[in-house]
Amino acid sequence: MSVATIIGTAIKTATVLLGVGIGKITIIPVLIAALAYFNYDLMDPENHPRVTKQLRKDYDFVVIGGGSAGSVLVNRLTENSDWNVLLLEAGGHETEITDVPILSLYLHKSKLDWKYRTQPQDTACQAMNDGRCCWTRGKVLGGCSVLNTMLYIRGNRRDFDGWESFGNPGWGYEDVLPYFKKSQDQRNPYLARNTKYHSTGGYLTVQDSPYLTPLGVAFLQAGEEMGYDICDINGEQQTGFAFFQFTMRRGTRCSTAKAFVRPIQLRKNFHLSLWSHVTRVLINPQNKRAYGVEFIREGRKEVVFVKKEVILSAGAINSPQLLMLSGVGSRPHLEELGISVIKDSPGVGQNLQDHIAVGGLIFPIDYKVSFVMNRMVNINTALRYAITEDGPLTSSVGLEAVGFISTKYANHTDDWPDIEFMLTSSSTTSDGGTHVKNAHGLTDEFYNEVFRQITNHDVFGIFPMMLRPKSRGYIRLRSKNPLHYPLLYHNYLTHPDDVAVLREGVKAAIAFGETNSMKRFGSRFHNKPIPNCKHIPLYTDEYWNCVVRQYTMTIYHMSGTAKMGPSNDPMAVVNPELRVYGVEGLRVIDASIMPTITSGNINAPVIMIAEKGADMIKARWIQSSRSKRDNVTVAAS
Ligand SMILES: Cc1cc2nc3c(=O)[nH]c(=O)nc-3n(C[C@H](O)[C@H](O)[C@H](O)COP(=O)(O)OP(=O)(O)OC[C@H]3O[C@@H](n4cnc5c(N)ncnc54)[C@H](O)[C@@H]3O)c2cc1C
Ligand SMILES: *[C@@H]1O[C@H](CO)[C@@H](O)[C@H](O)[C@H]1NC(C)=O
Ligand SMILES: *[C@@H]1O[C@H](CO)[C@@H](O)[C@H](O)[C@H]1NC(C)=O
Repeated sequence: MSVATIIGTAIKTATVLLGVGIGKITIIPVLIAALAYFNYDLMDPENHPRVTKQLRKDYDFVVIGGGSAGSVLVNRLTENSDWNVLLLEAGGHETEITDVPILSLYLHKSKLDWKYRTQPQDTACQAMNDGRCCWTRGKVLGGCSVLNTMLYIRGNRRDFDGWESFGNPGWGYEDVLPYFKKSQDQRNPYLARNTKYHSTGGYLTVQDSPYLTPLGVAFLQAGEEMGYDICDINGEQQTGFAFFQFTMRRGTRCSTAKAFVRPIQLRKNFHLSLWSHVTRVLINPQNKRAYGVEFIREGRKEVVFVKKEVILSAGAINSPQLLMLSGVGSRPHLEELGISVIKDSPGVGQNLQDHIAVGGLIFPIDYKVSFVMNRMVNINTALRYAITEDGPLTSSVGLEAVGFISTKYANHTDDWPDIEFMLTSSSTTSDGGTHVKNAHGLTDEFYNEVFRQITNHDVFGIFPMMLRPKSRGYIRLRSKNPLHYPLLYHNYLTHPDDVAVLREGVKAAIAFGETNSMKRFGSRFHNKPIPNCKHIPLYTDEYWNCVVRQYTMTIYHMSGTAKMGPSNDPMAVVNPELRVYGVEGLRVIDASIMPTITSGNINAPVIMIAEKGADMIKARWIQSSRSKRDNVTVAAS
């Protein structure tokens, strides 16, 4: 081992222990010394990318937001060495803590989180403080891919065929599959062999978790017992059960910053500006062309100009916010706030979709095999993580298996499931009632009444997530001040069909806990009556309809707020090339453009959208420079 490796290992171990609050006093001096050394190691291509101090006056492309989508875009656009590209990101760097899969819940409400909360509404999140849901969003290079649970799920073929059928040519499943594969480096040999669906050698490492508890296999067996296949849910058939595939590299997080930005840090045509909060896209009101971006860095307002395009990749909350601040949005709303209208676009901030699950479906068991944090995180496991890159710390908060199932409302002969089970060897109670409770914003009263008695018990959890909600929320500006957070209206469970599907998902979860495979562990449903619902006859449909509105858990998949659509759809904000209607030189490329949310966790689809978006940008500019060159040739001859 080299000195650097030993020190690196010491840092990893120490930061992990610090993260969980063990040995604070003795480790701090070691940590500081080690970190100082570590920061000298600038030539390591896997190290943090360098921030550009002196920016140019203008760039060919400016990308706003270095999240899942923005990281991919800057990588692909700088492949053309004739183009100068600037990335503006409000947050800073990833840390050693963000690398550790088991610690992702510690990142919620940290300084890497924008810490959004929805407006109080009485249809959901009633067990949360003030009846407001907590919408964690990454404020860091890599965006939400630095805080997420790394599940790699592409969605259902019919999601994309649906997009195409709404009038978006080129977005059908067969068209987008090559873009999923383009990014991918599938490390599981069994999956990598299936080359119709997977590929190797891409920037984004996808692997199975190096660590499973005995519950992992039992989850698959229970799925089979319920009549489902075990299959590659990212392959031919989605319906069925599988171990999760993760965006992980050697047991640590593979964020999009790590995958796509770190490898290009030495490209001369790439500039990176962190801690840079964009306040507005500058659009010429005469020719309606985006010509620059205004942002705040180190407390000062700055402007950069753009020669070709501005690309908004600030995510499903901030991209529509920035559009509105820049004069693109619903005319009455902008006028009411005193923002001059460049383009009346009523769809901006509308069509907000998210996935929700029911939290707190917990099944105590009789064996000490599950993930109890204070048993799993200690010096031994921290060393194991740092040295051999496996062990319990590589577990993504106990997420082990996934099941795509159909309730009675879905067509069972079709591969079009309506519920995703996220199966965990832990739950809300497994960390002593600390970080999960805090991340979800549960009230003390709710937690204590429902969960206190099983805190730190061995349990497993099932999070039934509704795949295709019919309810739609929206986002509005609070004021024209770009630093004011927008108003977020989730509108969860405002459509009665959503309540019905989610309720059936809860019943299916309870049935899952009753299978022989789970009973072997002594599984029993923790059926403590839920405070706001216990006046309703227990375990009836009416009771469950009430329960789903209490511990309503966002899965953090906000999307759809600047949707793609054909020009005859007045609610479409961007066209199928992701160019903003009514403005030249401006695109939105991130989760906002989804016309309908995909049937699964959405990070992989967002990365796909960015890969495809980058190709469309290249096609446009390379074509136009080619025709310009042709014109010159014609003129000369
Ligand atoms: C806690 C959590 C868990 C999740 N788990 C999973 C999972 O396991 N699997 C999965 O598939 N998906 C998961 N997701 C969802 C997935 O990670 C996101 O949908 C995806 O990362 C969104 O990508 P994006 O590029 O649209 O936006 P983001 O990744 O949010 O990127 C937007 C970027 O823009 C920056 N930005 C915003 N406003 C400004 C501004 N004004 N100026 C400058 N920069 C700005 C932000 O700081 C951020 O870096 C999870 C999300 C969260 C939060
Ligand atoms: C269910 O799906 C099958 C296969 O796609 C189809 O033939 C059938 O018509 C569908 N049934 C209903 C009730 O929609
Ligand atoms: C090239 O010439 C054609 C025909 O004269 C014209 O329509 C086109 O706009 C020109 N292209 C560029 C990029 O100047």
